[in-house]
Amino acid sequence: MPGLEIYNSSAFPIYEIRRENGGVDLRAQIASGLSLKSPSLPELLLWDEKGLRLFDTFARRDAYYLLDKEFEILEDNLPELTATIPSGSVLVELGCGSLQKTARILESLEKQRKSVRYYALDVSLPGLTNCLAGLTTNRLRDFRFISVTGLCGTYRDCIAWLSEQPDLGDATVSTVTLLWMGNSISNFSHYKEASTMLSEFKQACEMSGLRCQYLVAADGCEDQQRIMDAYDTSSPHLQAFMLNGLCQANTVLGREAFNLEDWSCEAEFSPRQQCLDVYYVPLRDVQVDLHGEGESSHFRCGQRIKAISSGKWTKTLVAKMASLADFQLNRIWGDRSGVYYFYHLTSAV
Ligand SMILES: C[S@@+](CC[C@H](N)C(=O)[O-])C[C@H]1O[C@@H](n2cnc3c(N)ncnc32)[C@H](O)[C@@H]1O
Repeated sequence: MPGLEIYNSSAFPIYEIRRENGGVDLRAQIASGLSLKSPSLPELLLWDEKGLRLFDTFARRDAYYLLDKEFEILEDNLPELTATIPSGSVLVELGCGSLQKTARILESLEKQRKSVRYYALDVSLPGLTNCLAGLTTNRLRDFRFISVTGLCGTYRDCIAWLSEQPDLGDATVSTVTLLWMGNSISNFSHYKEASTMLSEFKQACEMSGLRCQYLVAADGCEDQQRIMDAYDTSSPHLQAFMLNGLCQANTVLGREAFNLEDWSCEAEFSPRQQCLDVYYVPLRDVQVDLHGEGESSHFRCGQRIKAISSGKWTKTLVAKMASLADFQLNRIWGDRSGVYYFYHLTSAV
């Protein structure tokens, strides 16, 4: 049983895999994040349907080199990349977003006449529905070898879902390829967290009798100026994307705890951590009353609240992250200037 099918307006089935209990309690996460010594807000606030659209607009700017680099790698290496995905297998995309690059990958698999069951995972049902609906505008509608299904849930929901799918494959299916693009793997604060997630997915696959491999795309840029230009916080597109996260926080809390006019965002790159962090910052001293019960938290003008991280991981760091989870780097494909890479990770044991 793949989950509960949700009626949706795209041409593809979407299954609800969010767990009733144990799902994400964003209200609690907001409260606990803000009470930390180095306060933070959950990254998930950024990824509602509007957030997905705002992110796409932001990512289409020339300065945001990541998207161009991924397309370049696909353009130069698509048959080789997709050759790693066997016929008669399952392909699960983690945080599928707009599916622009995915469409190319699926077209290549179809051209190779590989029978592949593709599952697109993302957190927002309206966002996922829109993105899947966009797939029908190209040739995917007529596919004979590829099936497309949406999964609405988080990475954690997907781990739970995968561990309960002994029937995911038929007798011929033994492999799940986890596709993780857009440098999303590095949104964790530390590479060890990403590594833990790699192994949890692997264990989940094993519980369903499936072998798991990864195709991961990660940004390895070391040019500080280029990175800062890509995440230029004076860009109205980045501001709009980030502030939508506070808007979402208000929706989750059911009250206007954050007055958007009081907030902006700023970014900082740490070469030592190989990571860029983006923060919400109040433009004046503010009180944030989460529950409307008069107990508010005080934030000084300019005090940072962490919103999201984007790692800039060298090949060495990716290898370390993979090896911690018992994966090895089987193949690496780089862009023409050597700042961005796709990695094929296979199980070392
Ligand atoms: C940087 S975007 C990348 C989108 C797409 N993979 C691409 O390469 O263009 C991150 C994507 O991951 C999704 N996402 C973020 N956190 C998630 C989580 N915990 N579980 C599932 N999806 C998540 C977001 O909704 C968004 O679509």
